[in-house]
Amino acid sequence: MYDGDIASVLISEEQINQRTAELAEILAKRYPPSTDGDPDSDLLLIGVLKGAMMFMTDLARALPIPTQMEFMAVSSYGSSTSSSGVVRILKDLDRDIADRNVLIVEDIIDSGLTLSWLMRNLASRNPRSLEVCTLLRKPDAVRADLEVANVGFDIPNEFVVGYGLDFAERYRDLPYIGLLDPKVYSS
Ligand code: XMP
Ligand code: MG
Repeated sequence: MYDGDIASVLISEEQINQRTAELAEILAKRYPPSTDGDPDSDLLLIGVLKGAMMFMTDLARALPIPTQMEFMAVSSYGSSTSSSGVVRILKDLDRDIADRNVLIVEDIIDSGLTLSWLMRNLASRNPRSLEVCTLLRKPDAVRADLEVANVGFDIPNEFVVGYGLDFAERYRDLPYIGLLDPKVYSS
């Protein structure tokens, strides 16, 4: 598949599975299931479309606690490979998150601009708690002064695809994270 487009595998399917299981174990301790029987007490995962979809579904299945799922789609103005921090909501949440324990599930934090905008936006809706779990984080993210409690992998500052991440909407279906061969975006 995609013959020659992927220069190398950065994170294998096995590594993703193993790390997701570790994160799920940590998160299950952080969010013990409530015993009050109220559905609103369940942890609410908010996946950021489209990149986080694979991680979101695998994480939800790895978590040994009840979770509910919502999705948001945002678009940051700027080029296809870097973000500007000006964010537009393409799809908002379907429900209120007031007084809910909310975990934003992200594919990748690069500059951190998208996420800090999203955190501010969601915080204004008064959730009980608001934290982030991201599969990947690039080195520039540390400059954004963002408290990200849960990170799958810190990766080098290179463009990656696969497992939800795309270039021109391709490669999301790969089961691993790979480095794109420069010939793909220079041709
Ligand atoms: P910021 O800079 O706001 O960017 O943290 C986050 C968003 O930028 C996209 N992004 C990537 N997408 N491979 C991708 O497929 C990458 O290496 C990459 N780096 C940043 C992504 O949409 C992410 O949500
Ligand atoms: Mg993208």
